[in-house]
Amino acid sequence: MTTWIADVPTDGTVELRPDPRALDSLGRNHSLETALADLVDNSIDAGARNVLIRFIRVGTRLTGLYVVDDGRGMTPDSIDTAMTLGGRRRYSGTDLGRFGVGLKAASFSQAASLTVLTRAAGHSAVGRRWVHGDDRASFHCDLVPTAFADAELDRPWAVSTSPSGTVIRWDQVAGFPATDDPLQVRTFLSRAIDHLRGHLGLMFHRILAAGDTRIVIDVEDVDGGVGIPTEVGPLDPFGYPKPPPGWPRTLTADVGDTRLSITCHIWPRRSNTDEYRLPGGAENRQGLYFYRRNRLLHAGGWEGIHAPDKKLQLARASIDIDGDVAGIFTMNPEKSRVTAGPDFARAVTTARADDGTTIADYLQAAESTWVVSNRRATGQRRPVVPPGKGLNPKVVREIVDELPQINDQPLNILWAKFDNDDFFEVDRTTTTLRLNNRYRAAVLGGRRGGLNDAPLLKAVIFLLMENVFQGAILGARDKDNIELWQQILTVAARTELASYAGRS
Ligand SMILES: Nc1ncnc2c1ncn2[C@@H]1O[C@H](COP(=O)(O)OP(=O)(O)OP(=O)(O)O)[C@@H](O)[C@H]1O
Ligand SMILES: [Mg+2]
Repeated sequence: MTTWIADVPTDGTVELRPDPRALDSLGRNHSLETALADLVDNSIDAGARNVLIRFIRVGTRLTGLYVVDDGRGMTPDSIDTAMTLGGRRRYSGTDLGRFGVGLKAASFSQAASLTVLTRAAGHSAVGRRWVHGDDRASFHCDLVPTAFADAELDRPWAVSTSPSGTVIRWDQVAGFPATDDPLQVRTFLSRAIDHLRGHLGLMFHRILAAGDTRIVIDVEDVDGGVGIPTEVGPLDPFGYPKPPPGWPRTLTADVGDTRLSITCHIWPRRSNTDEYRLPGGAENRQGLYFYRRNRLLHAGGWEGIHAPDKKLQLARASIDIDGDVAGIFTMNPEKSRVTAGPDFARAVTTARADDGTTIADYLQAAESTWVVSNRRATGQRRPVVPPGKGLNPKVVREIVDELPQINDQPLNILWAKFDNDDFFEVDRTTTTLRLNNRYRAAVLGGRRGGLNDAPLLKAVIFLLMENVFQGAILGARDKDNIELWQQILTVAARTELASYAGRS
């Protein structure tokens, strides 16, 4: 006999309201892309045909961001529920919303304040604002005057918010560069827009391809005007031209009452298309793709079925799930990850296609497709010295992907101070090709330099000269080539320098 008692006794309750600072912990797993995807989910749920993401620049500084849609909007009666943390509505079977936190969590993960301005058909506009911060003392939400809500909704967006629509406004976005340096701001913007296009294009590819909703991104200079919008195109991870014969196959397994279907695809070969490469690189995008209501939640990874493997990069399998399935999956509240429980890996090992194909057969087929297609592509190519320092990582990846490499020191291509006019210098002892710093500014044409600058020039130099770094001794032919290249390239570099000097 022990002292353990099965039921815990209680004698009353006490109400413990959450401290408003609990809001600070929301959405910590978000990035700008995933947070905006959460807002796009809401726009799609509101039936929007058009969604606009707009960066706001005041002078040279980025200050805020808007998401504007032409969906149903919210009525003055429903906006307070929408602003409430965990405020839920009735969800339909196709809704992407589920927790009642997305809007708030996504916004507070990125911005100091969230303003919602919205108009439902036949109702007047209404606005609310949440300010986020350490000094928050209560859950009081600010009421925005109707005139301001109207004015914001009626700004000249590329999306019409009449008769209904919603404007989500973020101020003081934490991830924006805290600098006025126009070059840094421009670099940040072009990278942010690139990432956004990639992420949203991937996550919403089915919805975008169906043509139900359009997403565009633009930048407004408050004292200038609005830049040319960038459209987010669908990025289909299964968008290969033609699969290998016999694929894709659908494997099914029953887990309790749930039937799990895994559609196993194999890309025919590696490809240079955006669909194959995907944000993050194809090698990290092998594995499972979880969709919920046609929205991709999670792109790649094997969830315990297999370890990532370079040779499995042609394998991508899609699984349609509907939210959590007890014991098998859980979706995180940011809707950016699905976690599979131990029952999942077990279920997958029992999955079979109609013809008996198993997951092991699939992985095997994907691997042999990789081996065969790779042999075909790179087998007859002459091996090169591995690329080293000074080359842009994207160029390095391309070289490594496309060419077999000899087992030797990597070739560095670096700028250096010369005491003559030569364009380059071959240093076989350190496997380094030096370029004369004197020509650097002209080559960069005014752009800022860095270790990996001048990718085009360095890639050409690599292809032209890497073989003089191969082998123990330098042959007569190599020596003659080096002399020839030196003469021609030095003339070219001098010409470049003269035209650059003439320009400034
Ligand atoms: N762009 C919008 N247009 C119309 N209604 C919106 C919009 N954005 C949010 N809402 C309303 O606000 C509510 C709260 O949004 P929020 O994203 O916080 O939660 P949710 O979408 O219901 O669930 P989840 O946490 O899964 O995203 C939504 O249910 C919806 O009613
Ligand atoms: Mg939501």
